[in-house]
Amino acid sequence: MTEILVLPGKVLEDILSPKLLVDEIAKAFIAFSEGRTVTPPRTVMWVEGNWWGIMQSYVPGYGVGVKIVNVIPSNPSRGLPTIQALVTLFDPENGSPLAVIEGGVLTALRTAAASALSVKLMAPRSTGAIAVIGTGYQARYQLKFILEYFKPTHVRIYDIRREAMEKYKEYVENLGYEVYVARDPRDAVREARIVVEATTTKTPVIYGDALEPPVHVVSIGAHTKDARALDDEVIRKAEAIVVDSRNAVLEETGDIRIPLEKGLIKLEEVAEIGEVASGKMKGRVGDGITVFKSVGLAVQDACAAYLAYKLAVEKGLGIKVEV
Ligand SMILES: NC(=O)c1ccc[n+]([C@@H]2O[C@H](COP(=O)([O-])OP(=O)(O)OC[C@H]3O[C@@H](n4cnc5c(N)ncnc54)[C@H](O)[C@@H]3O)[C@@H](O)[C@H]2O)c1
Repeated sequence: MTEILVLPGKVLEDILSPKLLVDEIAKAFIAFSEGRTVTPPRTVMWVEGNWWGIMQSYVPGYGVGVKIVNVIPSNPSRGLPTIQALVTLFDPENGSPLAVIEGGVLTALRTAAASALSVKLMAPRSTGAIAVIGTGYQARYQLKFILEYFKPTHVRIYDIRREAMEKYKEYVENLGYEVYVARDPRDAVREARIVVEATTTKTPVIYGDALEPPVHVVSIGAHTKDARALDDEVIRKAEAIVVDSRNAVLEETGDIRIPLEKGLIKLEEVAEIGEVASGKMKGRVGDGITVFKSVGLAVQDACAAYLAYKLAVEKGLGIKVEV
């Protein structure tokens, strides 16, 4: 019999604090960009029209993590989250299973940690607003983590669903910030020094002609080959484009693949966040537009899962199960 630990989302929320997770995720991204992890491309399959991914990674020092995740955009109308997942964690030396971890919260936390890391590395020095476009599940975690590194004058929000905006407005006000509800995506990004895109859109919602530099754009949506959240102008004008993985973004988002095919950018100019974190490549150098585009990497899941497991064991949290 092997004893494993089951970690519910609530435990993850309590133990994975933003600064702790951001620092660990930075190490995982550096290890990934230096080729020190074992991270095969994720397996993507379409089930009844919806995206499913199987994501596996070994990050030295953090164990072997395997996540099964799906994205079901119609789920909010069923009262279910758009993204559901489970992560299993294994000991890399003896292969024993260690934990089964709720993956929806883990995904939101590790995605927010990546975005916050990019803000830590690339935010403009001057202050201004944070704009959030797409005010669903991820947007809460994105803002909470980013606020650790950037204190805005106010928060500007936009979503195509009024009810999502209203709930988010209340959430942000409870965090102690004034909220401006924008009329459209262009109105949302005015005066913004940080723009967060967290939508399920397939067509651009961030327009380069509406941005007011200096501004750092964080984009986590548009995760298929032809989907885009950023228009050509954003990419054309950006002084730095940083991604989680060059290989992954070529396969998994139109936001980088399409501008590359159009010749608007060259792949060697696109940095990985692990390379910016280690100082190998530059992020922000001037007062222009910087972009962080992520599609999500298995190294983030393995790292966050192991950190959660380690902390839960130390604190006696989680549910022990014999399997
Ligand atoms: N990069 C990563 O690592 C990563 C990780 C997790 C999720 N994601 C992506 O983040 C996105 C958001 O996920 P979620 O769990 O918050 O979903 P969600 O359904 O809870 O929220 C998405 C929100 O976007 C809004 N929206 C859709 N189209 C819009 C448009 N054109 N303009 C403005 N708002 C629009 C929806 O109304 C909804 O409120 C998804 O695309 C998901 O795949 C990325």
